[in-house]
Parts: sequence; structure tokens; C-alpha cells
Amino acid sequence: MTMTPPPVATPGPSLVSTLPGRSYTDPEIFRREQERIFETRWICAVRCADLPKPGAYRTVLVGRESVLITRSRSGGLRAFLNVCRHRGARLCTEDSGEVRRTLQCPYHAWTYDLDGLLIAAPNLANMPDVDRAERGLLTVAVREWLGYAWVCLADEPPSFVESVVGAVTERLGDPAAIERYGAGELALGRRISYDVKANWKLIVENFMECYHCATIHPELTDVLPEFAEGFAAQYYVGHGASFADGAEGFTVDGSPGFGRIPSLGEEQDRRYFAVTVQPQVFVNLVPDHVILHRMFPLAPDRTLVECDWLYMTEVVASGADLERSVELFHRVNLQDFAACERTQPGMGSRAYRAGGVLVPSEHHIGAFHRWVAEAIAPPVPDGA
Ligand code: FES
Ligand code: FE
Repeated sequence: MTMTPPPVATPGPSLVSTLPGRSYTDPEIFRREQERIFETRWICAVRCADLPKPGAYRTVLVGRESVLITRSRSGGLRAFLNVCRHRGARLCTEDSGEVRRTLQCPYHAWTYDLDGLLIAAPNLANMPDVDRAERGLLTVAVREWLGYAWVCLADEPPSFVESVVGAVTERLGDPAAIERYGAGELALGRRISYDVKANWKLIVENFMECYHCATIHPELTDVLPEFAEGFAAQYYVGHGASFADGAEGFTVDGSPGFGRIPSLGEEQDRRYFAVTVQPQVFVNLVPDHVILHRMFPLAPDRTLVECDWLYMTEVVASGADLERSVELFHRVNLQDFAACERTQPGMGSRAYRAGGVLVPSEHHIGAFHRWVAEAIAPPVPDGA
């Protein structure tokens, strides 16, 4: 994305083209995005605290694959393709669960330890030539950051530091800025899942611009008045939008929130920062909490969005009423996703066959479009 201050006047053309409509509807394009983006990049999969002990597991959809994430006996994170190596049955069919020591396939009872090694199977003793490591579950790269398990299906994952941490640093301008929120130590205050009937790119594009804020986010612009100006204020390096003078906290009615996260700097107080980590994470940073969205594309016109509100552990443990705090961004989410759902049908219209346009405060979305287009472009055939 382009990291420039809001334009006062833009030299050159005011309007630049978007992707064509079929980018948001075509099953073949969606398949390529799954294969070349979601199955090659680092994907923020689950909150580590949702795997509290060895044997606790979650399954998530990464591209077209079900990935099983658990903890080994040592407590370390492990990720596997959720496919039995015998005849391919799905090993864990639930979204979450807990096993004691082993993962057992419900079909013929092949049994794997929490490191993925095949340790038992009916009549295995009579098959001494079977290599148990060789027939173990296929591992998936996994990393922990911000209190989440990030996974990557690529055989050779891209550098996590460059592609994930670097995206956050590029936006915030200071590598220490994100660490001061201590997201890994925060506790889950609320989680809301949104089943959005829109293409995942519409959701990313919407998050990247604030041209719509004045129109659809009255509560947000009350707390962050500069968002009503329609500039992409949130997208220049290091800039956080200031709270309104009258706003005591980042809440639906501007009422006080909770105490500031103690490790934050003065420059992070009474400010809102928004970060996009392509392809599927949005991070919102305010002085007393962190809001993190994970997106999981299900179909060209359907995306699951999981949104976590994270607070200091003592706030959650105290049983404090989080309602007005959560309600602000929950409303923003509903407003944004309604806009995306209103846009999705237009993507299949002949009116949008050649696409639409980006105004100057949206021009940085063009970099996202180019990133997607390059990622899914067919390879140049050998000898061409
Ligand atoms: Fe899993 Fe047979 S398919 S044990
Ligand atoms: Fe919005």
C-alpha cells in the first residue's frame, strides 16, 4: 500500500481503475487466489490461548486445506494437514476439541502422537517395514506472534519477519510500536464471527479506505473526527487518528473505556491505529484494547470473519462490562460488512464488467490490486 499523507490536491488523474468485476465472482480466479495467496502466505489461524494445554486442538480452513493446530506434550505449537495418512479421512471433524495423548482417526483407528508420528494402527506390529515417521501426519509451518498461531502451507514459507512483522512495522513506522500493546498477554474479552456474503477482497479494500466513514460510521466518526474528512488518514506511516476532544474512551458513546495499557508510549495514547496484514488480518490498536480480525474466504462471494476484542487480563478477570467498548467496533463491522454485501451483487453486473474507479484517497488500494493480480498471474510458460 502507498503510505502517503492525505492529498490536498492530486496531480494527474483523479480516478484510477479497480479490478474488473469478475475478479470478485469467478470461481477460477478464487481458486487461484486460494492456491497462490492463502496457501503460500502466513495465515493468522487461531488464538494461542484457545489451545491452553497439550492435546487441545482447533481446525481451521487455510485456502482449500483443513489444518489441525494443537500442542505437543512439551507445550509447543504443532500444525498438521487434517488428513489421515491411511486412506485420507479427516482426522478431526470438529472446529475444536481436546485429546489426551493421541489423535486417532475415526475410520480405521490409525493413531498419531501429538508430534504427528504414527504410533499405532490395527495390525501395525505385523507390518514391520512401515516407517512410522514417514507415515506420520504432514506438518505445516507454524509461528506464534501477537498471541496467535500463524501457519503457512508453503514448503518454503516466506520470511515471517519480512512478510508479517514487516507489514506492521511499515505501517506503524516503529518496530517497537506493536510490541507495546502486548497483544500476546492480553485476554479475549469477546469474539464475534461474521458470515459475510462478499468476496474477501471487498472486505480488505473497505478496511483500507475511509472515504466511506462519513457516510456509514456515525459512531466511529464521533470518536475519530478526522475520519469524517474522508482522507485515508489511517494509511500514512506512523499516523494514528486522534480521539475527539470530548471522547473519554474508544466506546460507542465516547464514555470512558479502561485504563491505558501501561507499556504504551504517550504518542499511542488517545489514538487509533489500523493495520492491514495481507491477505487476511486487520489489527486495530487503541489505548485500552486491541481488535484483531481474521478472514477465511469460503467462496467467491462468502467470507468468514472472526473478530477478537482483547483486553488486559485484569479487565477481563474483573468481570467489567465490556459492552460499550465492544459495541463501537461491532457496529463498525456490521456497517462495513453490510456495505460489502451491498457491493457484491454489483460485481456480477454488466455495469461493472470493466470495474469501477478509485478516488485519490483510495489510490493506495491500487497497490493491493496489483499485489493480487501479480500473485495469481499465470506463470510464463517454459521457453516463452
Ligand atoms: Fe484413517 Fe483409515 S483413513 S485410519
Ligand atoms: Fe469502515
